[in-house]
Amino acid sequence: MKEKQVVQEAFTEFSSHYEETVNSELNTFWGWSYQSFVDQLVNRTEILENQKILDIATGTLVIPRKILKKKIPGVHITGLDFTESMLRQGKKKISGLDLTNSISLTCADAMAIPFEKGTFDVVVMGLASHHMDIPLMLSEMRRVLKPVGLLSIIDAGTSPLWELAVVKFLMRVSAFFYFAIKENFTRALAEVGAITNLRTPEGWQMELESAGFLDIEIIQLSSKYRWIPAPLSIKCKIYQEE
Ligand SMILES: C[S@@+](CC[C@H](N)C(=O)[O-])C[C@H]1O[C@@H](n2cnc3c(N)ncnc32)[C@H](O)[C@@H]1O
Repeated sequence: MKEKQVVQEAFTEFSSHYEETVNSELNTFWGWSYQSFVDQLVNRTEILENQKILDIATGTLVIPRKILKKKIPGVHITGLDFTESMLRQGKKKISGLDLTNSISLTCADAMAIPFEKGTFDVVVMGLASHHMDIPLMLSEMRRVLKPVGLLSIIDAGTSPLWELAVVKFLMRVSAFFYFAIKENFTRALAEVGAITNLRTPEGWQMELESAGFLDIEIIQLSSKYRWIPAPLSIKCKIYQEE
């Protein structure tokens, strides 16, 4: 099964209990509640009136719901995800909230975003870059951002220690058994694959610079255990020709 299919299948099975499970996992590994973790992203992302926002890998729409709660006039959010059942769960959570004019959903792959060049003022992403090909992801994000666009990401990071081949191997094995026992085989495969895509703060700095992003800010958030790499909040801008 291709990596993408593994991730899609894992989140299809995961969708019905995603928010509760991710809350307990973030708490177990980092000491964060899911809500306060997403608040970090939303509160660090400057959003202005009438801006068009793209939330990539939006899942059950927790990030768009939080942004819309800020009631910034004229803001429109597009939630994009390639797992239909995650979007369906999200739709259920917003049904009856009359958000039709301020939110739209797109079931598509972040590696081939179905929007024109320069469509969005802000691109945000939570807890998903570790499932993606980072250089391709960043080039797609850059393409759909307007000439002066803001990118804001929050996700797991890694450390030089975890980059050591033997440690990375041990982490992959432990992740496999942890998620196979706690969840299922497909989730275990998806999370083992994700370990390869993790970056250190320095690794992110290099990826963002080579993708042409500027004003790069990478902050390590708190982590419960010293041996588990801290989550990262990443913000940067793009200044490009029309
Ligand atoms: C851990 S969830 C994160 C959901 C949400 N952003 C959050 O902060 O909770 C990862 C999401 O990424 C989506 N995803 C993974 N790879 C993707 C891709 N290439 N294109 C679109 N969505 C993707 C999955 O379907 C899943 O909904």
